[in-house]
Amino acid sequence: MLYITRKEHFSSSHKIHNPKLKDIENEKIFGKCNNFHGHNYYIEVTVCGKIDKRSGYVMDIKILKDIIQKEIIEKVDHKYLNDVEMFSGKIITTENMAMVFWEILKKKINLKGVKLYSIKIFETEKNIVLYKGE
Ligand code: NI
Repeated sequence: MLYITRKEHFSSSHKIHNPKLKDIENEKIFGKCNNFHGHNYYIEVTVCGKIDKRSGYVMDIKILKDIIQKEIIEKVDHKYLNDVEMFSGKIITTENMAMVFWEILKKKINLKGVKLYSIKIFETEKNIVLYKGE
């Protein structure tokens, strides 16, 4: 099995807020993150599969790039994530973002004859979430 990764970037704003909690509880749990702020996110999408003998590729990485751009980046870049439909009803943590992206990308990528292996999101250089499905 071989693994290929495409890295993409987006800038978005959010606040981490649980609408089911009172303002004072949100402040207590999330601190500064409960305030409106932004991040320069990086996302790494890794797929795995076997070599296609005809092309020598696991997958044409341009196709992977186009899927990530169309399904994720165009919908989140320069957006306020709390208002983006794919996150509706969710607390906008990097963990939840990784799980939402996973569900969206899995279907599209599996159609190409390879498997989605992992999604890694860098919220900052130091805060990173890795998701590999259930
Ligand atoms: Ni944040």
